[in-house]
Amino acid sequence: MNKAVIGLQWGDEGKGKIVDYLSDDFDLVVRYQGGNNAGHTVIVDDTTYKLNLIPSGVIRGKICYLGQGVVLDPYHFYNEYNQITKKIDNPMVYLSSNIPLILEYHKQLDKINELILKNEKKIGTTSKGIGPAYQDKVGRKSIKLYDLKSKYVIEEKLHTIKKFYDPILESFDESKINIEKTVQELLNFYDLVKELIVDNSFIKKKFINKKILFEGAQGALLDLDHGSYPFVTSSNTVSSNIVIGSAIQVDYKTVGIFKAYATRVGNGPFPSELFDDVGDYIAKKGVEIGTVTKRKRRCGWLDLVSLKYSCEINRVDELCMTKADVLNNLSEIKVCKSYNLKKYEDVNFSESYSLDAVSLDDEDFELFPSWGEVKDLSKFENLPYNLKKFISYIEEYLSIPIKIISLGPERNQTIIR
Ligand code: GDP
Ligand code: IMO
Ligand code: MG
Repeated sequence: MNKAVIGLQWGDEGKGKIVDYLSDDFDLVVRYQGGNNAGHTVIVDDTTYKLNLIPSGVIRGKICYLGQGVVLDPYHFYNEYNQITKKIDNPMVYLSSNIPLILEYHKQLDKINELILKNEKKIGTTSKGIGPAYQDKVGRKSIKLYDLKSKYVIEEKLHTIKKFYDPILESFDESKINIEKTVQELLNFYDLVKELIVDNSFIKKKFINKKILFEGAQGALLDLDHGSYPFVTSSNTVSSNIVIGSAIQVDYKTVGIFKAYATRVGNGPFPSELFDDVGDYIAKKGVEIGTVTKRKRRCGWLDLVSLKYSCEINRVDELCMTKADVLNNLSEIKVCKSYNLKKYEDVNFSESYSLDAVSLDDEDFELFPSWGEVKDLSKFENLPYNLKKFISYIEEYLSIPIKIISLGPERNQTIIR
């Protein structure tokens, strides 16, 4: 059965590690949304791979495909592809010709969008031009990979884009769009990657009846429609976007992935956030530093209320829990099981301002005693009793089995039940 690995929190749940771990059983690994705002770290033996665009399946020599729902920064892609060719022999990466590009002006507009927002209203984007690139796609202005075949088409599109954006760029002292330079750069890029570009029907035909693993980027709580808008990314991260973003019409099982605690980079509501020494301890032990922007990730306790919501919107079939090892030596581990609501009867995740009313009390948390170091990773039954109790509490709360347990960044620190 095909599978999708979908982040259930605010990103960085360990999708890269788990996609790498699972990909041995699949023929094709597919990204269907997001761009190089994603940062997926995979550690294999002595090598650390940091991937932003190319699915983690590339490490195991799997065929990787970036579907039309992705936005692609040509320079970033080319550098990442080049880097990977130094570590992996003949990486097989295909790009949908229907992918919209991220160009320099998208990054300038991302900067301007943040500049005009006041302090706590700033989104805290990755500054990679993601939002403006998706705006152009919806606004029917994007330059797509298939446009790169024709100098004339690129030029014509850029003239319209220039008319639209130059006044804004100029008024914020940003350099205006340089058509000649951009055209030349895009034509050079096309020359370098044209062998990798395929139309959507190619992948459908080539992989009919093959096993596909879909790799999510970001997390469900950062979904454009289902997340804590406006503190979200600009694509649909949830599993229902897979068919649109990949143009591959197949059934799949959804593996929802979450950390045993919670982190968030950038602004936005985070009810179970910790502001004390425990939060700092988790950040340090879990190395919670953003892969893309090197920002410190905000840390908090696992939030089962939002996790349940994420499981519902993704129709999660089975769960994967990562990073419980980070909590090993804490004397007490907490899990948020309810929201103490001052103003509203029930929190409404699709009206994210309602999360502002959440302020958690002691009775909103379930407490768990320490489970200490986990020495034996050979099978689930051998895990410490207190860790097994923690796992079964989460399973019962969500009514979904946790089938994969990751207790370290390495491949062999993974238990499948
Ligand atoms: P992604 O964006 O969801 O792929 O996650 P990131 O790669 O941005 O962040 C997860 C980080 O945690 C990476 O540095 C992984 O190497 C690491 N990691 C993954 N699983 C585990 C785990 O079970 N335990 C520990 N300690 N680290 C993990
Ligand atoms: P992975 O795939 C964590 C966050 C940014 C910001 C918001 C909008 O590694 O889990 P954007 O640049 O997308 O417009 O920023 O989304 N964000 C992520 N946070 N992990 C990610 O990806 C993220 N991609 C975007 O920090 O709050
Ligand atoms: Mg990440």
